[in-house]
Amino acid sequence: MPELLDLLSSSLHRGSTVFVTGGGSGINLGIAETFARTGAKVAICGRTEDKLVAATARLRDLGADALYAVADVRDHDALTAALALTESRFGPVSAVIAGAAGNFNAPAEKISANGFKTVIDIDLLGSFNTAHAAFAQLAETSGSILFVSAGQAYCPTPNQAHAGAAKAGIENLMKNLALEWGQYGIRVNTVVPGPIAGTEGVERLSAEVGAEQWRQAVPLGRFGTTADIGVMAAILASPLGGYVTGSQIVVDGGFGLAGFGM
Ligand code: HXC
Repeated sequence: MPELLDLLSSSLHRGSTVFVTGGGSGINLGIAETFARTGAKVAICGRTEDKLVAATARLRDLGADALYAVADVRDHDALTAALALTESRFGPVSAVIAGAAGNFNAPAEKISANGFKTVIDIDLLGSFNTAHAAFAQLAETSGSILFVSAGQAYCPTPNQAHAGAAKAGIENLMKNLALEWGQYGIRVNTVVPGPIAGTEGVERLSAEVGAEQWRQAVPLGRFGTTADIGVMAAILASPLGGYVTGSQIVVDGGFGLAGFGM
């Protein structure tokens, strides 16, 4: 594991429960691992059981109590069931990571109505469903939600009309929920990752120009790691982030400064 994770206390989230959508791979698994390393009980959900089984084994290897549930974030009932299972096994969630996303590269005129709707449904509706289904547990724990956003929310990006619209919607949803749910002690933020090495997002979206061109566009000169995002998520969900709500936390090595979305 990267040394970065050794800088976080292994007891930062001891006794708490985190629920991560899309936790079977990529950035979301990296976030789940960071919570596992900091003492949390970790529940992950996703659509592909094979990935969830492998990810859960990895989380257990890190010493965490971990479980998975097969759930598509477009299905509110499935999320409700996954969260009920989590509460029954690990107690109410105090951190929710809404990271499940879907994407493909296509010029706007080539995206079918169903293709556009599919990405909106996974990213935006799925984020709402996750927060909505978790509300009662989060109100009980005075917990927090972190939505995983993207640079496309701010920066129009060729071939990304669907994802840009969805992520911009997530940013607005985040602020609205932060405004409405502060009275319940619930904090709501987004993290905006830059290009993260080894993820499906970078592989898919940099395919046309090549990953090396993306790397050169990062002012810090390197791709991020899932640990870069994981530590930020772990801090935000902890008392260290206790006065942060309604915020967009950009963790992109400066990638967005030169007008790059993703
Ligand atoms: C054009 C496409 C397409 C493509 C799918 N569609 N792929 N159109 N180009 N490459 C269209 C289909 O033709 C269909 O429309 C509609 O989208 C729905 O497709 P399905 O395959 O039925 O949908 P589904 O099985 O639900 O799959 C959703 C998906 C898929 C998003 C299309 O790629 C997926 O499951 N992705 C999950 C993994 C993923 O995307 N990871 C990367 C996330 S990265 P019609 O009209 O034909 O019915 C990320 C971060 C981005 O989000 C920002 C940082 C990099």
